[in-house]
Amino acid sequence: MTAFKELVGIEAAKYVKSGMIVGLGTGSTAYYFVEELGRRVKEEGLQITAVTTSSVTSTQATRLGIPLKGIDEVISVDLTVDGADEIDPSFNGIKGGGGALLMEKVVATYTKEYIWIVDESKMVQQLGAFKLPVEVVQYGAENLFRHFKAKGYQPTFREKDGKRFVTDMQNFIIDLDLKKIENPKVLAQELDATVGVVEHGLFNGMVNKVIVGGAEGVRTLDV
Ligand code: 5RP
Repeated sequence: MTAFKELVGIEAAKYVKSGMIVGLGTGSTAYYFVEELGRRVKEEGLQITAVTTSSVTSTQATRLGIPLKGIDEVISVDLTVDGADEIDPSFNGIKGGGGALLMEKVVATYTKEYIWIVDESKMVQQLGAFKLPVEVVQYGAENLFRHFKAKGYQPTFREKDGKRFVTDMQNFIIDLDLKKIENPKVLAQELDATVGVVEHGLFNGMVNKVIVGGAEGVRTLDV
């Protein structure tokens, strides 16, 4: 699996050209993309500016000598490469397994060309087996949890090291165990309209290209 992640990370880095503003995703697959960009900056003199989607990726990019800017210091991002947790045949996706969904969606929103890099296991017929992350403000989070529970969404607060996980944006994450999401767009609208929800992990119709790694090699799907 790690080998596939590295392969797609390296493949995605081929789309990066000097002069670009590049969005750097978060997670174990995006990690390899960022490593390859770092190598190209160092060995090939690639000249880019990057914006990142998490503090973890910022630390990695800084270590690699990739110049960074904040999202508000750029008008738009030329290309963003990120991982995903599930992708359905209509290219709706779930993201946020790494807890960075809010920053990831903000960066994706200002991005011209948005690429996901995944291994074959992430390509599914229907979203929902992966728990849907929902980022919520801390104020009123228990009531929001009860609201999701009453709706039958089987919520759990995300935890890390035995404590409630707090995102880079200082919010909590409630994971919804939905099993099957019948209509991702309708669910997204519902969550968008729920007070206290800052963002959710449904990334519907946002991606432009998916690079998939599997036993038969790398395939690139244009959306
Ligand atoms: C982080 C994410 C990741 O991109 C997603 O969870 C995929 O991660 P990985 O490549 O480690 O499987 O959305 O918030």
